[in-house]
Amino acid sequence: MLRMFFFSGTGNARSVAHWIVAAWRNRDRSADIVDLAKVETHSIRIDSDDEVGIASPTHGFNFPPITLRFLFAFPRAPNKNRAFVLNTRAGVRFFGVCLPGLSGVAQLLAAFVLLLKGYRVVGMRPIDLPSNWISLHPGLREDNICAIFERCETITRRFAERLLDGKRDLRALWDLPLDLLIAPISLGYYLIGRFWFSKSFVASRACDACGACVAQCPTNALELVDGRPFWTYRCESCMRCMNQCPKRAIETAHGFAIGVPALLSIVLTTLVYPALPPIISPSLGDGVLVALLRNAFEAALMLTVLVLLYRLLHRGLRLRLVERIVIATSLTHFGFWRRYRAPKNAVTTPTADGPGTKGLDG
Ligand SMILES: Cc1cc2nc3c(=O)[nH]c(=O)nc-3n(C[C@H](O)[C@H](O)[C@H](O)COP(=O)(O)O)c2cc1C
Repeated sequence: MLRMFFFSGTGNARSVAHWIVAAWRNRDRSADIVDLAKVETHSIRIDSDDEVGIASPTHGFNFPPITLRFLFAFPRAPNKNRAFVLNTRAGVRFFGVCLPGLSGVAQLLAAFVLLLKGYRVVGMRPIDLPSNWISLHPGLREDNICAIFERCETITRRFAERLLDGKRDLRALWDLPLDLLIAPISLGYYLIGRFWFSKSFVASRACDACGACVAQCPTNALELVDGRPFWTYRCESCMRCMNQCPKRAIETAHGFAIGVPALLSIVLTTLVYPALPPIISPSLGDGVLVALLRNAFEAALMLTVLVLLYRLLHRGLRLRLVERIVIATSLTHFGFWRRYRAPKNAVTTPTADGPGTKGLDG
């Protein structure tokens, strides 16, 4: 039996997991599908003839912490079971050409953990579904989303067919040199970046405290504080809240999240460093290690300040002026900055006629 586990913020990895399961069932092979955000890992039992599939988005050139924790706690293989890993990435489409995202260590780490647990890794493949990272760019246009989905459904089904035929598909390893090159960035994102992003979300006055974001958050990272959502550290920036808010009230506070570190950096370089005794004051002649340590210290300091100010900001948003400034300096509040959602009917049983991807979810 195939045990297909997935994590998904906005539906891409979920669609991939469903396509795989449908391919298995088309060959009269049994398969079940489990949202790993909703299952206690210790309750999972793997039988000796089970095959295991993992599908998850890529976050910061790695799998998100929720997927990594799941993998680390995953049961050992009872019988060298076959396993495969699919990471959905930030695909985009310009002038009809589909461009891929970047995996970083996502595939490598997951495959390594599964190998250590005694699995035989027979499949490793990135799937370049539409990018959902709308803190950084507007959501893709509907026609591009549909075109990318059709393409990826075909790719995923081919991958499934190969595995069902008893073959291997380790396409992810083609990207190995580039993935290793960007590996240090994945560490930076894991240690600092993800916390910074979690403190970049705010709700505008359009928020009516309906609680949909709190209820739908897969990591239970949101709390309603003083009638407004507050993003805690548990937030993994999966983008579900922002993309699904019925009032389109959730924004990325670019002005705040970029302005605070920029201001702090100016204060450090113009006021603090010149006032330090020469022995600890940074200079151009610093070695790599000293420079790295200083950068790590600055990043940690900026994060601490950002976190403290985020609490203040949350209170301040009750004041009309503060709310206006924060929202006016957010790019996501502009009408042209589309939200992203995977097409709802992408999750259909594929037939011999081809993909079932048409139209967008709500
Ligand atoms: C916080 C965040 C970080 C991301 N980092 C990467 C990345 O490093 N590489 C990449 O190719 N895509 C990246 N993406 C894009 C998503 O991995 C991609 O859109 C994925 O298909 C979303 O899957 P989902 O809908 O199942 O959540 C990132 C998205 C977010 C929100």
